[in-house]
Amino acid sequence: MLYIAPSLLAADFSDLKTDIARVEAAGANYLHLDVMDGHFVPNISFGAGLISSIRRSTNLFFDVHLMISNPLKYADSFIKAGADILTFHYEAVKDPMAVMQAIKEKEIPCGIAISPKTPADAVYPFIGKGLANMILVMTVEPGFGGQSLIPECLDKVRLIRRFAMQQGLDLNIEVDGGINGENAAYCIEAGANILVAGSAIFKTKHPRVVVQQMREAYKNKPFLV
Ligand code: DX5
Ligand code: ZN
Repeated sequence: MLYIAPSLLAADFSDLKTDIARVEAAGANYLHLDVMDGHFVPNISFGAGLISSIRRSTNLFFDVHLMISNPLKYADSFIKAGADILTFHYEAVKDPMAVMQAIKEKEIPCGIAISPKTPADAVYPFIGKGLANMILVMTVEPGFGGQSLIPECLDKVRLIRRFAMQQGLDLNIEVDGGINGENAAYCIEAGANILVAGSAIFKTKHPRVVVQQMREAYKNKPFLV
C-alpha cells in the first residue's frame, strides 16, 4: 500500500488546523512531523508541545521524524504528545541499534533515517523481523523544506528494497525531500511505499490533484527491483 505523508513544515503555521484538515480531505494518510533541534541539523522547527496541540484536531497517523542529536532523551515526550512512529537518524547517535531497541521497548514503532551521504548498507543490520518498522531514505540533506530531490538517493531505495525482499520482508521504505506529483513515480519504481511531500502538497491550491497523481503512479508502476 502507498502512504502519502504531507510534511507539516510547509504548512501555514498561523492556521495549522485548517491546513491539516485540507490535506486530510485531499486523501493523505500520514502527517509527517519534522522535529529539528538546531544541532543535528542547522534549523529549528517545533517540538512535542505543538504535536500534542494538533493531535486533538486530526486522526492522521503521526509520522515523527526526529532530526535531533539525542532522540532517546526526548522519546517519551513525543510518545506522550501522540506520535504513532518515531524515526531517528542513524548519523545522530553512537549506537543506533541500542537506541532502536530502547524506543521499541516503549511499545511504539521505530524508524531509522539515513541522510544522502550515508550508504544503504548502513541500515541492513536493522532490517529483519522485530527490528526497524521503517527505513527513511532522505532524498535531500535534512534541515530544510523546499529543496530538490537528489536522484542518486533513489539507488539506495532500490538496494534496500532488494535487501528486504531477499528476506521475504514487506518493509516500509519512506522517501523524504523534494518529492512531488511528477517524480513520485521514480520513487515508487525504486521501491518506496511512503512518500513525504511538504511543499508539493501544502503549498498547492489543489492538494487532491497531487495526491491522486501519486496514487496513479503507484497503480501503474510495480516495483522494479
Ligand atoms: C527536510 C525534511 C522534509 C521536508 C520535506 O529536512 O525532513 O520532511 O520538510 O519538504 P519538501 O517536500 O518541501 O522537500
Ligand atoms: Zn522529514
